[in-house]
Amino acid sequence: MPGVDLRSDTVTKPSDAMRKAMANAEVGDDVYGEDPTVNRLQDQVAELLGKEAALFVPSGSMADQIAVNILTRPGDAVMCAPDAHIAFHEAGATPMLSGVQFSFMPGGIFSGDDVRGAYHPNDHHYPPTSLVEVENTYNMGGGLVWSLAALQDVLAAAKELGMHTMLDGARLWNAALASGESEARLCNGFDAVTVCLSKGLGAPVGSIIAGDKALMHRAHRVRKMIGGGMRQAGILAAAGLLAIDEGRKRLAQDHENATFLAEGLGKIDGLRLCTEGVASNIVIVEVDAKLASAAQLQERCAKKGLLFFPTRPDRFRLVTHLNVDRAGCQKALDILREACGA
Ligand SMILES: Cc1ncc(COP(=O)(O)O)c(C=O)c1O
Repeated sequence: MPGVDLRSDTVTKPSDAMRKAMANAEVGDDVYGEDPTVNRLQDQVAELLGKEAALFVPSGSMADQIAVNILTRPGDAVMCAPDAHIAFHEAGATPMLSGVQFSFMPGGIFSGDDVRGAYHPNDHHYPPTSLVEVENTYNMGGGLVWSLAALQDVLAAAKELGMHTMLDGARLWNAALASGESEARLCNGFDAVTVCLSKGLGAPVGSIIAGDKALMHRAHRVRKMIGGGMRQAGILAAAGLLAIDEGRKRLAQDHENATFLAEGLGKIDGLRLCTEGVASNIVIVEVDAKLASAAQLQERCAKKGLLFFPTRPDRFRLVTHLNVDRAGCQKALDILREACGA
């Protein structure tokens, strides 16, 4: 059996059907808005998310950066999780491209009162807190899922304070599945939403930013400004369409596999699950310092064919996806057990 790659759900390979759809895609010049496949994808995703308009971009990071840029002014502060993707995994782009600073919330899933507490009064000493960013699912928290009530609580506080809101929904599909809510309901009330086609859904490239028409008009300009205007991008959008139509149907398997992994990990001495149960397709595990650091364990496992990333000196993350089946998860557990000396 080949190795097991649980570094991220971004490592998936496009299926034969997807490659065929890409090869047969009808294309045009998307910088002129003339690619019919891109236009179809944008319309379909806008409808799915309950937004007026959507824009296809190469990556989740670009979608996020465009969203921050069109919802803030340089000098503003952005409220987000203490380990939000926009803060720590986009190469420093947020302050660099939009000139904003972060106001970190007490956790990845926070409340309306947390927003009220972190809001800066209208006093010339403070940076204006103009944007609240929510990540759903919350990656570094172990794929945690926001309830609709928690989202509405935060959105109500933001509205009361006159703040803009954005949702980093790189794994919104997983959140919808886990919460039993539609994507549109989870996006309702956010000014801008970003989603990824290239994670659990299995497309090789592509993300979408969605919002109202006026906002997406501005998003279009920023996409061009940062070099995200693509030409015959229908080849990529065709994969995105298939990801939306077919990819969502199989996400439950990833969630079940993540639960299977978590249950097995719980039986390995020296490892401890960092969350109560598993919410979606991400498992974060703590390693007993007496046993090894997360980096040492990573090295031991890599030699045996299991790949993952440490998230802290004492923690690592496992992500299930379409190219890892139940047998692969069992192999991952066997390798971890051996690496932990059991
Ligand atoms: C929560 C979250 N947002 C945004 C992104 C960015 O996506 P990309 O790698 O396509 O830039 C990721 C990537 O893993 C992510 O986990």
